Amino acid sequence: MMQAARGEPTTSVPIWLMRQAGRYMDEYQQVRSKVSFLELCKRPELAAEVMLTAVKRLGVDAAILFSDILLILEPMGFQLEFTPDGGPKIVNPIRQPHDVDRVQELSSAEPLHFVMDAVKYTREGLDNTKPLIGFAGAPFTLAAYAVEGGGSRNFQQVKAFMNLYPEKWDELMRKIALSTAHYLNGQIEAGSQIIQIFDSWVGCIGEEDYQKYVFSHTKMLLDLIRPGTPIIHFAPGNPMLLPSVCEAGGNVIGIDWRISIDRAWEIIGPSRAIQGNLDPAILLTDRATIRRCAQRIINQVNRRSGFIFNLGHGITPQVPVDHVIALVDIVHEIGAA
Ligand code: CP3
Repeated sequence: MMQAARGEPTTSVPIWLMRQAGRYMDEYQQVRSKVSFLELCKRPELAAEVMLTAVKRLGVDAAILFSDILLILEPMGFQLEFTPDGGPKIVNPIRQPHDVDRVQELSSAEPLHFVMDAVKYTREGLDNTKPLIGFAGAPFTLAAYAVEGGGSRNFQQVKAFMNLYPEKWDELMRKIALSTAHYLNGQIEAGSQIIQIFDSWVGCIGEEDYQKYVFSHTKMLLDLIRPGTPIIHFAPGNPMLLPSVCEAGGNVIGIDWRISIDRAWEIIGPSRAIQGNLDPAILLTDRATIRRCAQRIINQVNRRSGFIFNLGHGITPQVPVDHVIALVDIVHEIGAA
């Protein structure tokens, strides 16, 4: 996994899966029947246990910290809740330009000390061959949550805010990017060996707006991450953004299923690794279909160095665990052949 992240040749194809610890898994549901999601994130031993259980059961090649991209918003002054259906909600979102003034910029990772502890405990429980991935939301995705107050279909409020109040938008993005840099460097210090940046919602905007409202902030964040740790930059939803996403930075570019590996590699170029890109919906089909789709991806990779198998997005709660285990086995089998 580390070799692939650095773009070096490997003897097999490494695989891990976004949301590999989650509601589709009985073991996770059992833990969640006793504690809320936020409590789970704030109890480092329990958070570590949930991820270690998933890694063991699935046989994946990397662990990702068990946490959430939205936790950093709490010490920045936002009141965060997860509704019973699992959806996040911010009780006091940004609606007016002056709301940006109350946003607290973090000067260290200390307010999120429980996350650093979860990194330590997870690292301690992992096999030495499996790296631990730390993560954070990218500035746009976090700002989108801060303005919308939750998930959104069309992101009207965040788009209106950045167009109407570009200076306040820059101030908000800057506060988030600088806080996130402390947070990620804290995770690296605690033992994370790879960092993934999730720009989950940035696909809702176009290339020009990415350049105007997003690029410099994401680039600043990535430039502030301690050198030497591979960075996975995942910005799904709009493959037209890929040239700008690459320019903003990252050693590995995460792609979703909307673009083929072949075309993505043409755009991304040989100097970076790629992570992706199975459609998570395929996990709802059957073993033969999962094999066929995994084979297609590995054929397209065509032995190029620097490939990490993953989904184009997280595992959904409806997916049978057996199908996920089958995918990991299939990728290990085909990828070593
Ligand atoms: O297994 C893992 O991938 C590690 C843990 C992880 C979670 N969230 C746990 C979680 C990671 C890496 C995240 C990142 C995250 N969180 C993203 C980026 C990835 C993506 O999906 O694009 C986003 C957008 C969020 C915000 C968020 N958190 C949403 C939209 C939701 C609800 C819907 C959903 O997708 O599950 C959450 C809740 C959440 N985060 C759960 C888990 C296991 C489910 C909470 C529960 O148990 O009820």
